[in-house]
Amino acid sequence: MIRQKIVAGNWKMNGSKESIQTLISGLLDMDGSNSEVVIAPSFPYLSQVHDLIDGSNLVMAAQNASQEEKGAFTGEVSVSMLADFGVKYILLGHSERRSLYGETDEVVASKVKTVLGFGLIPMLCIGETLEERESGKTLEVCERQIQAVIDVVGVESFAKMTIAYEPVWAIGTGLSASADQAQEVHQSIRAFLAKSSESVSEKVQILYGGSVKASTSSALFKMPDVDGALVGGASLDAKEFIAIVKTAG
Ligand code: 13P
Repeated sequence: MIRQKIVAGNWKMNGSKESIQTLISGLLDMDGSNSEVVIAPSFPYLSQVHDLIDGSNLVMAAQNASQEEKGAFTGEVSVSMLADFGVKYILLGHSERRSLYGETDEVVASKVKTVLGFGLIPMLCIGETLEERESGKTLEVCERQIQAVIDVVGVESFAKMTIAYEPVWAIGTGLSASADQAQEVHQSIRAFLAKSSESVSEKVQILYGGSVKASTSSALFKMPDVDGALVGGASLDAKEFIAIVKTAG
């Protein structure tokens, strides 16, 4: 099955009105691409980004959302609010959310359910720490993180989701997984899903994230089970991000 590639930029907690204006005008110079190009600004800038990318092929993601629909949850942002601003994807379970803000597999699964309920697309982030990799637990961790979501929304829901495999040891370290390492895990994730649903496993787009740069992305994108990238640091530089998109074809 041909799966469209997605190249997504997770801006994390970076940017200002001015820098975002500059970054987007750089991105709008990009030639057409066969890939879907996604950017994920911080919440306060969604409105600005929504207006700036109007009429372009750029698509917006949010970096997180509440599992609650509405009500007395001070400081939280609901999925319906994000939908109001034209958000298509929502990153869920990013390793920074899991490790720094205590998001458990159960919380992440509950967020996935809410996001699907509003018709938006979860970008479920999974991945192992260095210690887990070194003790041979990479697949066990990824499967546990996926299974927690299957338990709540069912495997068929993965046809309406994307997965981002982001090994924690590769995030922000400059040490990307090799194309072979990424392929090995992506293929195993697909095989794990295939045990419950062959068609879902063939359809779901699995992105790689962790120190992706233009110099490493073309090898990653050549891998049969790597359907794109979730880019952190390099997505803050329009030229570098465009160069990554180009390698996706
Ligand atoms: P870096 O590309 O900066 O390593 O970040 C990856 C990431 O966490 C994307 O969500």
